[in-house]
Amino acid sequence: MDENKGHAILNAQSVDECVIEQHWDKYTPQDHKTWGTLFNRQLATLKGKVCQEYLDGLKTLHLTADEVPNYDKMNRYLKAATGWEVLPVPGLIASRPFFSMLANKQFPAGTFIRTPEQLDYLEEPDIFHDVFGHVPLLSNPAYADYMQAYGKGGLLAMDHKGVKYLARLNWYTIEFGLIVSGGDFKVYGAGIMSSFGEAKYVMSDASPNIVKFYLERVLRTGYYIDDLQATYFAINSFESLFRECVERPFVPLYDEYNQKPRLSPFELLEGDQVLRRGSGEYWKEFPKTKTKLK
Ligand SMILES: [Fe+2]
Repeated sequence: MDENKGHAILNAQSVDECVIEQHWDKYTPQDHKTWGTLFNRQLATLKGKVCQEYLDGLKTLHLTADEVPNYDKMNRYLKAATGWEVLPVPGLIASRPFFSMLANKQFPAGTFIRTPEQLDYLEEPDIFHDVFGHVPLLSNPAYADYMQAYGKGGLLAMDHKGVKYLARLNWYTIEFGLIVSGGDFKVYGAGIMSSFGEAKYVMSDASPNIVKFYLERVLRTGYYIDDLQATYFAINSFESLFRECVERPFVPLYDEYNQKPRLSPFELLEGDQVLRRGSGEYWKEFPKTKTKLK
């Protein structure tokens, strides 16, 4: 979840206070060009590795490289598909309005776009991350159901010392999730879809492990907010992810996991169904980051 990135967060606690106007007509020709450059580069980098549901979503929402998406237009297609809508926000927002919006089928998305100098890396999520990364899959009913359940679960977690577990679930599914496809895997996580560096790493670096998703493992596994992943988790389908997360109440799990140690993203554990054992090469010069494991 974006509030984990450690940047200034809008303090407002109500959804209404968070929502702004997009002012689509204010985007410059350079902004549209930047969108197009990023759009084409990501699809080329991840060629053959993007999950079909995501590609279908681009079509459903009429998202192209031609221009920065206009939220009013995009929302007409999105609402028709799953009842969701994207609401423009100024940047990172607090947990309560964030979860409330998701629970109400509203996705908060930034409106600014990075500069040409920031094509490769941007600390704060912009419209390219939020929309290109996240929104196409919101037109998929099973994924949309999962996101809504995630928002409802988030509100509950806030009252039961569970937010850090949901943040990990978000990290390893919505942001950096993979999906099993045939004997291979495909990408659906927004953090991979929208990042040139992470996309290249997933496509061609032998370092990371890929482990079959299972709930306890993901909820207990820490992550670094500012580096590539040591382990990715692959789901079977969005339906199975949704089922696994709604079949049992999370609140008792928080109590249980609060008594147990956090798991390392570097080590493979007994019980892991390993789809690919990574070389770990990238992480040899550990620690690479100055941040703490979440
Ligand atoms: Fe994100």
